[in-house]
Amino acid sequence: EHSTVQIQKGLAGVVADTTAISKVNPETNSLLYRGYPVQELAATQPFEAVAYLLWNGELPSDEQLAELRAEERRHRALADNVRAAIDLLPLSAHPMDEVRTAVSVIGASDVSGSGSVLDAAGSPEENLARSVRLYAALPAIVAYGQRRRRGEQLVEPRDDLDYAANFLWMTFGEEADAVVVDAFNRSMTLYAEHSFNASTFTARVITSTLSDLYSAVVGAIGALKGPLHGGANEAVMHIFDEIGEADKVVAWLDEALAEKRKIMGFGHRVYKRGDSRVPTMKAALDTLVEHYDRPDVAALYDALESEFVSRKGIYPNLDYPSGPAYNLIGFDTLTFTPLFIASRVTGWTAHVMEQTASNALIRPLSAYNGVDERHIDGYVPDAEAL
Ligand code: SDX
Repeated sequence: EHSTVQIQKGLAGVVADTTAISKVNPETNSLLYRGYPVQELAATQPFEAVAYLLWNGELPSDEQLAELRAEERRHRALADNVRAAIDLLPLSAHPMDEVRTAVSVIGASDVSGSGSVLDAAGSPEENLARSVRLYAALPAIVAYGQRRRRGEQLVEPRDDLDYAANFLWMTFGEEADAVVVDAFNRSMTLYAEHSFNASTFTARVITSTLSDLYSAVVGAIGALKGPLHGGANEAVMHIFDEIGEADKVVAWLDEALAEKRKIMGFGHRVYKRGDSRVPTMKAALDTLVEHYDRPDVAALYDALESEFVSRKGIYPNLDYPSGPAYNLIGFDTLTFTPLFIASRVTGWTAHVMEQTASNALIRPLSAYNGVDERHIDGYVPDAEAL
C-alpha cells in the first residue's frame, strides 16, 4: 500500500496512542502509575491498592480497599472447570500455556449478554468486574500448576491472608515470613504496568476490534511468554544455573557473547540507561539474600551485572533481579513468568478498558516488497489435479 515511507521495524519509537495509566520516562529513568512513582507505591502499598489504582485512577479509600479484598476472596478458589482443564494438560506443558488455557476456560464460561459477538466487548462495569475476577483467580491457577508438577496436592486459599500472603500460602502450603511477603508484594507492584509493551499492546489490538477482555488477556499471555519479553525472568534463572558461581562469569560471558547470545535480563526497548524498577526490586532481592543467608546469589548477580555492563554498556531490566528473588522464595523457574501474568493482568485489563473508552481499530499499513503483479494467462494445472 506504501512503498516510499520509512519502515519503523518493531514499531520502535512509534507513538501509537495516548494513555493515562502509566508514564515511562527514559530521560529521568522514572515510571509513574497514574502519577505516583512506582518505587513509592512498591514501598508503601499492598498490591491490592495498586491494582485498584490502575483500574480506577485513584488509590482506594479504606472502604474501597476492603470491598476489593472481599471481592477477591470470593474468587480466589480454583474453579472446578478450570482445574479439570489444567488436569487435561500433560505435566510437560509449559506453565504459560497452562495459565493461557485456564484463562480461556474462564472466558469461554463467562457468557453474558446475548452471547452474540456484538456483546463481546462488555460494558465498563462488566469489564471491571471481569478484571477483578481474573486478578483474583490467577494466584490459585499459578500455585496449582507448580504443586501439580511437583506431585503435591491443591492448597485451598485462606481468607485470613491478604493477596501476597495467600498467593505464597497456596503455592507452598505454609505461611511465608513477613520479609518474604513484602518482597513478593513489591515484585507484584513492579510488574503490574508498563505502558505499550508488547503484551499490553497485543491486548489493545485485540480490544480494538471490539473483541472481549478474556480474548485480549489470552493474546497478551501469548506475547508475554516470549524470552524477549516476560519469558526473560525464567531465562535469567537458566543463565544463573548455567554459570553456577561468580568466578565462572567471565569465561561464561566470553563464550555467550562469542556465540552472539542475547543475555536475558539485560537491555530494554525504551530504557537505555537502566530500568527504573531495578533499584526497588534489587533492594527486595537484598532482603531475601539476607533472610535466606545466600551471599553466593548476590555475588553471582553482581559479578554478571558488572561484567556485562562494562563490556556492552547495557543495563539490567526488571527481570534480572526478579529471577533470583523468585528462586530464593522457592518458586520453580518455570513458574516465574506466570507470576508476571498474575501481576500484569491488572495493567492489561486497565488498558483494555482505556482502549474501549476511546477506541479506534488498530490496523497499521505495510509496504509491499513481494513480486510484481503477474497473470495466469495460459497456465492451467493438470486437469486431473483439480
Ligand atoms: C520486559 O517493553 C517493556 O516495557 C517490557 C517490560 C515490561 O515491563 O513490559 O519492561 C518487560 O520485557 C523487559 C525486557 C526483557 N527481555 C530481556 O531481558 C531479553 C534480552 N533483552 C534484549 O533482547 C533486548 O534488550 C530487548 C529485546 C529487550 C530490547 O531490544 P531492542 O530495543 O529491540 O534493541 P536491540 O535488540 O536492537 O539491541 C540493540 C543492540 C543490538 O546490538 P547490535 O545487533 O545492533 O549489534 O544491543 C544488543 C543487540 O544485540 N543487545 C543485547 C542485549 N540487548 C540488546 N546484546 C546482548 N544481550 C542483550 N540482552
